[in-house]
Amino acid sequence: MDIVVSGIRSTGNLHLGNYFGAIRNFVRMQHEHHCYFFIADYHSLTTHPTPSDLHGNVKQVLSEYLACGIDPEKATVFLQSDVPEVPELYLLLNMNAYVGELERTASFKEKVRKQPENVNAGLLTYPVLMAADIIIHRANKVPVGKDQEQHLEMTRRFARRFNNLYKVDYFPEPEPYNFGEALIRIPGLDGTGKMGKSEGNGIFLSDEPSEIRKKVMRAVTDSGPEHPGQEKSEPVQNLFTLMQVVSEKETLDYFEDHYNRCTIRYGEMKKQLAEDMIRLTGPIRERIKEIKADDAYLRKVVMAGAARARESASATLRDVREIIGFKPF
Ligand code: TRP
Repeated sequence: MDIVVSGIRSTGNLHLGNYFGAIRNFVRMQHEHHCYFFIADYHSLTTHPTPSDLHGNVKQVLSEYLACGIDPEKATVFLQSDVPEVPELYLLLNMNAYVGELERTASFKEKVRKQPENVNAGLLTYPVLMAADIIIHRANKVPVGKDQEQHLEMTRRFARRFNNLYKVDYFPEPEPYNFGEALIRIPGLDGTGKMGKSEGNGIFLSDEPSEIRKKVMRAVTDSGPEHPGQEKSEPVQNLFTLMQVVSEKETLDYFEDHYNRCTIRYGEMKKQLAEDMIRLTGPIRERIKEIKADDAYLRKVVMAGAARARESASATLRDVREIIGFKPF
């Protein structure tokens, strides 16, 4: 059984790409490993949200994960800001994180380029906070996407550096959790690339049916196949890929067959695709609404999660303080 830690960005509004990507794997992992899933609300402060936006985002994303089947009885679900041991370990790790290596981090360099007006120290030390999140539970596995690989590599380095400095074998070096075949790339509706939030090409779990129909009917296609067996263009392949994940096999076969015989009508296909997306997301959307309206339940979840996370985190901090040389008089 592995100890798995994953932070969740607190920008809410999950889309189908998130659903078929990270979330489904989290739901699977929670049965097989000792999982810590938390909302990375300290990390979100680098963008200076207003207090109500901060709280609203955390509530939204927490409700969405719970609605998707993250089970707080199985996994430890908590808010980063409820675990004061995390910023304490962050402070300690900062003493052995070098400004040079932090400045060379790809995500930091990108921020410097894109938002030169807000290059704060929190951005520079973002990877240190992330390392604290992970090693505070002495995790050995972290599910990460491509964009987080370098951060995980730095976590490994900080863990190793601590062990070497104090001549201990205390922190494991966490490895990326490998999903193998399970990871499907979900395309967007604009014909190119994967589904994302900013691109405006996505179907959100909380979209109303009318919104889903509108978005799908507007999806990019082409002028149709001209000869049997013609290879699909990217926008059309994308619609088939979406259909493959949300529709019944017979439905997919029906449209494949029409495509191959050049009798396909994209309007008909989109109508069907939209209805199948509505069927899939409908119950989740309702759950999100229910959970969001149930403050007592949310409070119970985060309080129980914080207590469990702090149990593990404070045990680590006790050891770390002693290793470093903070001894009681
Ligand atoms: N940086 C991660 C992201 O942007 C979120 C995150 C914060 C995280 N702390 C973490 C992920 C610890 C895994 C482990 O998605």
